[in-house]
Amino acid sequence: MHIRYETPADIDAIQHLTSAAFRPMPYSEGTEAEIIRRLRAGGDLTISLVAEEAGEILGHVAFSPVTIDGVDDRWFGLGPISVKPERQRQGIGKALMAKGLELLKERGASGCALIGNPDVYSGAGFSSDGQLTYQDLDTRFVQRIVFRGPAPSGMLRFAPAFEN
Ligand SMILES: CC(C)(COP(=O)(O)OP(=O)(O)OC[C@H]1O[C@@H](n2cnc3c(N)ncnc32)[C@H](O)[C@@H]1OP(=O)(O)O)[C@@H](O)C(=O)NCCC(=O)NCCS
Repeated sequence: MHIRYETPADIDAIQHLTSAAFRPMPYSEGTEAEIIRRLRAGGDLTISLVAEEAGEILGHVAFSPVTIDGVDDRWFGLGPISVKPERQRQGIGKALMAKGLELLKERGASGCALIGNPDVYSGAGFSSDGQLTYQDLDTRFVQRIVFRGPAPSGMLRFAPAFEN
C-alpha cells in the first residue's frame, strides 16, 4: 500500500469511496463526499491523501484550515477520512493519519483537530482536555494534537465547506 497526494484522476474514486465508507454510519448525514468536493472547489483542501494498492484507492483523508475562537493560527482539521469498508481495521486509516500529520508538521502547522471517536484517533496521538469545544458537543469527541505553541482553548470552527 502506498500513500500519496490525490491527483485529478482520483477524484471520482475518492467521492465513491467516501460515500461507501460513511453510508452505514449512523452519525453520517451523507454529505461527506460533497464536503470534500466543496473543500476542493473552495481552495480549502490543504492536504488530500489517498492510500493506493495495485491501482485501487482504498482510503482517503482530507485536511483543511480551521479557526479557534475565530482566529486562524495555522490549525488544521482532519476529515473526512474513509477506508473502503472491506479493508477497515487493517491500519490503513492510521497510516493516512500519520502521513497527513507529518506533512502538516513539515508545513509549519500549529496542530490538528477533529471531531470523532477517541478509540479511533487516540492511537494517532489525538486527545482532549475539554478546552477545545465544538457547538454543544461533548468535548471528549473534540480532539486535537498540538505540534507547537500552547494547547488550544476555544470554539473550533471548520471551513465553510462543512457548513453549507
Ligand atoms: C474511521 C476509519 C477511517 C478508520 O480507518 P481504519 O483503516 O479502519 O482504521 P485503522 O485500522 O487504521 O485503526 C485506527 C485505530 O482505530 C481503531 N478503530 C478502527 N475502527 C474502529 C471502530 N469501528 N471502532 C473503534 N475503534 C476503531 C483501531 O483499533 C485503531 O486503534 P489504535 O490506533 O489504538 O490501534 C474507517 O473505519 C472508516 O472509513 N469508517 C467509516 C467512515 C468514518 O466513520 N470516518 C470517520 C468519521 S469520524
